[in-house]
Amino acid sequence: MSTTSLLLGQTLCFDGNPFHDGPDAARHTSRGAVVVRGGHILDTGDADAMRLAYPEAEVTDHGQNLIMAGFVDAHVHYPQTAIIASWGKRLIDWLNTYTFPEEMRFADPDYAGEIAARYLDLLIANGTTSVCSYCTIHPASVDALFTAATKRGMRVFGGKTCMDRNAPEGLRDSAQSAYDDSAALIGKWHGKGRNGYVITPRFAPTSTPEQLEALGALWAEHPDCLMQTHLSEQTDEIEWVASLYPESRDYLDVYERYGLLGERALFGHAIHLTGRERAHLRDAHAGLIHCPTSNTFIGSGLFDLDGLMDEGHRIGLATDTGGGSSFSMLRTMAAAYEIGQLRHASAHPSALLWLATAGSAQTLHCGDRVGNLKRGYEADLTVLDLSSTPAIGQRSARADDIWQAVFPTIMMGDDRAIAATYVGGVRLK
Ligand code: GUN
Ligand code: ZN
Repeated sequence: MSTTSLLLGQTLCFDGNPFHDGPDAARHTSRGAVVVRGGHILDTGDADAMRLAYPEAEVTDHGQNLIMAGFVDAHVHYPQTAIIASWGKRLIDWLNTYTFPEEMRFADPDYAGEIAARYLDLLIANGTTSVCSYCTIHPASVDALFTAATKRGMRVFGGKTCMDRNAPEGLRDSAQSAYDDSAALIGKWHGKGRNGYVITPRFAPTSTPEQLEALGALWAEHPDCLMQTHLSEQTDEIEWVASLYPESRDYLDVYERYGLLGERALFGHAIHLTGRERAHLRDAHAGLIHCPTSNTFIGSGLFDLDGLMDEGHRIGLATDTGGGSSFSMLRTMAAAYEIGQLRHASAHPSALLWLATAGSAQTLHCGDRVGNLKRGYEADLTVLDLSSTPAIGQRSARADDIWQAVFPTIMMGDDRAIAATYVGGVRLK
């Protein structure tokens, strides 16, 4: 029989969405425990009660640290790891200057393997246990990601990025090869272990109508796969899409026409939406992925988190590495808070933490397995030190409740605040 572990500390889980139900949707236990066996959460509750119920368990005492679900990063480009924080460009110039030359390097499977391993290790250092990533056009870049994830036991989603125009020679496929390569990768990786395949047209400007149609057909043949793309990130991009697809009513309509709107669709950014687009996204139950550090870094705009939540959209949170300027979901929550402030909407710490865990997991359709600290869930956990630096410690020392205690770490914390990361019950940090 596998061993039983008992992790002691403060604990946090969610019974609902704090954006809708308020901070009471979060359940905090100041002397809590998580019981882990066979990679899953067997039980949670009060520390004394759990000690009594599981006397055989091996105990790890995390003291005053906060045990919660591992972070779920719902939109990243792992191949952009080495070009994060590249200076001075907005979206289209940034892609041409920094991103495409770097993605060309993934023609070399060894380089892809090196970056995939480096990227996932950075995630673990930052308390992120699941991720949904774009790869490059090279099938070997998908193999590299899933191989590295499997080695670490992580629940990872990813797919080959498809582009058949407006990208350099060497970084273009075709409608047919995008379909064939993606289909082969689905067969090889989807549902194998903890891996999930994501059909991935990069965005409307880099696909011909024929390619979008082929990928829409592929998705119809594999409806349990996720589909990810970009939507309405910058105003120049929206004008470009209108000129490339003059018959479309708006940006979303391009995807709609080719069967690329549905409840397993993930739209990165979704900043400058029309009323029609908002209504159709909501009616389709599609996932919108908020990438706040990217939206400020590339100068894209201010996502309407509060308004879209009120309308009933499904929303996740993401770093958008490497358009985003951080690997840390703490820094990403801080940026979401700051963008909210600019829109006169202050997200509560419970709402930020929900977004970075359960909210993201729900958009990835794995919210019944990861993203929460509940019996039966996979034991992907992060343990936060709420006074990881002198600056944070002197502030959290004044706290009267858990939200005052955790907010300085959300705003000022980095990988030093991650005391431990568990993946499938195994401590990797
Ligand atoms: N739109 C199309 N490709 C990308 C990308 O790699 N990063 C961001 N931020 N936006 C994109
Ligand atoms: Zn992106």
